[in-house]
Formats: sequence, structure tokens, C-alpha cells
Amino acid sequence: MKLVVIGAQWGDEGKGKMVDYLAEDADLVVRFSGGANAGHTIKVGDQTFKLHLVPAGIIYPGKTVALGNGMVIDPESLFQELAGIKEQGVNWEGRVFISDRAHLVLPSYKQEDQNMESKRARPIGTTGRGIGVAYSRKADRDGIRVADLWDSVVWDSMKEEDRKWIQPYKNLLKDMKVNMAGFMMKNKDKQVLLEGAQGALLDLDHGTYPYVSSGISTCSGAALGAAIGPKHIDKALGVFKAYQTRVGNGPFPTEMLAEGSELDLGNQLRELGHEYGTTTGRPRRIGYLDLVALKYAGWVNSLDGYILSHLNLYDGFDKIEVCVAYEIDGVETIDFPSSTVDLDKVKPVLKALPGWEGKVGEARCWDDIPEAAKAVVKFIEEYTDVPVVGYSVGPLRDETFMKEPAWIKS
Ligand code: IMO
Ligand code: MG
Repeated sequence: MKLVVIGAQWGDEGKGKMVDYLAEDADLVVRFSGGANAGHTIKVGDQTFKLHLVPAGIIYPGKTVALGNGMVIDPESLFQELAGIKEQGVNWEGRVFISDRAHLVLPSYKQEDQNMESKRARPIGTTGRGIGVAYSRKADRDGIRVADLWDSVVWDSMKEEDRKWIQPYKNLLKDMKVNMAGFMMKNKDKQVLLEGAQGALLDLDHGTYPYVSSGISTCSGAALGAAIGPKHIDKALGVFKAYQTRVGNGPFPTEMLAEGSELDLGNQLRELGHEYGTTTGRPRRIGYLDLVALKYAGWVNSLDGYILSHLNLYDGFDKIEVCVAYEIDGVETIDFPSSTVDLDKVKPVLKALPGWEGKVGEARCWDDIPEAAKAVVKFIEEYTDVPVVGYSVGPLRDETFMKEPAWIKS
């Protein structure tokens, strides 16, 4: 079976933690998109792992992981990350494979990323990791893939300084590179977990363009970036938080901006949820849960289910407000707009749902969830037409549960 996990918002939904949880029953975990712009935090006991490139399944001893062809890989970051987890006791040798079609991020791309950003009429607030440069080189047919390091024409055309820089990594990559389609065919009967990065609203096509990342972070990218056909995907789950965050620039229809109690709520949620970037440390912008955007993400990813995280942050609040429509120039819509001009004009139509007694944070199964919180979930399910099948109510593995088993085909 092939199970996809994507982010259903602007990233940072808790995908890494969920992939780690679901990887227990996987044989192979494949990351299919993005690069070191991602930051996936996993807590196991008293250890915290911060992963940027390596698929989250790596923490389990003996599991195989692969970095797919849809990724852009900075080998220096990759081997630093692998050295870091090794120090934390994770023996990764022989378990990490890399598509030979994945594109490389060279050192000059990072500077270029920052230069491009400073010249943009609409700065995106990129992570400065050279991600956009690597993807644009790919589209320009001027990129360097892992396989190309053994192509004498490409190798000879590279700058001397780049060749020198990459040489030690080239030797390491040699033993890890695979023909991804062949690799996936060999693993076709295994339990494969396809790990997304970023989120639906940061997807190059479906996101809030141009304020997006440059990879395909929606479910279609799972097929593309892991060298399988779309029909091989058996199930797709999307992770979302009970509120909305965004790091970097761009429209944010439900952002908590108004002075007073709204801003206080945003600041409170930021502290409760530790909403500071894993990759850049930037404070994340906070907003009300946006059901218009969530329904859109459900559709463009053909989601079979959602995994809801951080609902526990609303424990003790008297209400939870969610956005049920956008008002643009006095007209209400539930279609997610394409234009940033329209997105910037949005006045969110909010609906207040009653808070609950008891603690979602203490729930370990659906039955433990307080009734009023269950009503919130049912409201979300009816609005979006996608069931909520799993919950993350804290950072630890045992603070996670499924209402429906994930590894059963829909
Ligand atoms: P994970 O996988 C949140 C954002 C950046 C910026 C925009 C473009 O941890 O959820 P880029 O460097 O990709 O060209 O930046 O995308 N961004 C993310 N925001 N989580 C991520 O990944 C992100 N990856 C990129 O902040 O606004
Ligand atoms: Mg992140």
C-alpha cells in the first residue's frame, strides 16, 4: 500500500511528527518534494530530532528511507544532518537512498536566492536555502542532478570551486543513489509512506502564487516526486492545525491582526504552540482556522482524510472561531481566490463554535475527546466533506491516535 501525508495549510502542520508515527507500520518512507527549507520536528522520549532533508522514518531502527526525484538536495546539509542524527544514536548507514534524478543545490544558489529576493517587487520571505534557484535551474534544463555528477560533459562544465566542494559528497552519494523508478518497482508490494514537505497553500501551482515555495507539495507531487504513477497512490491524508500559521510573506486571509483580544489570542497561540520556524527561527504569523482554504486543500489533494493537530491548544478557551467564507468587495465566496489582490481584500466570515470542558490534550482515543470538541470536528468534516481520521494532541508519539486505521485502503 502507498500512503501519502501532505500538509494541508502553509506548512508546519506537524507532518514530520505524523510521518514518524505512521512510519511504525511502513517498510519504506519516501520524501517526495522540497529541500532543506522544510523543518520536521520529532520528539521521541526526551530526544528531539530536527530534520530538514532526511525522511522522518529514519528514527526507527532498520527502516529504509529514500529522498525522491522531486527533491532538491544540498549535500552539505544532508551529510551534516545525517552526522547530527548519528550523534543522537541513529544508525543510518545502508538505510538512506537518494534518487539519481534529484537535483542538487550548489553553494552559490543560496546567495543567488537571497539576491533574487532582494530584487523582487514582491519579496516572498524565502528560507534562503537556494530552493527556488535549484527548481528554476531544473525548469531551465540547466540543473545538476545526482546522476549528472558522473556525466563527464556536465562534470567538465561545472565551476572548479563547485567540483572541489562536491567531490567528498560525490563519493558518499555514489553508494546511496538509486534509479528511483526501478527502486519503487522493487518495493511495489511494501508498505510505502510518501512524506510531503511544505503545504498545499505553498504549492507552486495551487498555493498563493507567487508567495509559495517552488516544489510540488500537493499529493500530485507524491506521484511525480517518488517515481510512481498517480494510480499507485492508495490513500492521501492531509495534516492541519486547529488554527492557521504562515511564515514568510504573502496573503493570509484569517490572520489575527486587529488590536486587542484578537492580537492577544494570536500571541497566546504562538507561545502555546511554540510557533517559531524550525529552519529559520522566525516567529510564525497566526490566524483563525480557515475552512475555505482547508476545503480547497482537501479537493486539490483528493484527501481521504485529515489529521487534526493542536486542537488541544484551545483547551480552556470559551470558544473557537473558524472562517466559513470570504467576503471580497462585499460579495461572499467559498472559492479559494487565485489572485493575491483578492486574497488581500478578504474579510473572513467567522463562526464561533463553543469551547469545551475537559482536555483534548489528555485524549488518547476519539471517545476521550470532550463532546463540544467533537462537535467542532463534525462541523469541519461537514464543511469540507473530508473525515478527520487522526489526531495529534501533543508533541510525543503517544499523544497521537487514529480514529480510523491509516494503513487500510479507503
Ligand atoms: P515544512 O515542511 C513553512 C515558506 C517560506 C517562504 C516560502 C518560500 O516545515 O512545513 P522557499 O525557501 O521554499 O523558497 O520559501 O515558503 N516555506 C515554508 N513555510 N514550512 C515549510 O516547510 C516551508 N518551506 C518553505 O517561509 O514563505
Ligand atoms: Mg517548517
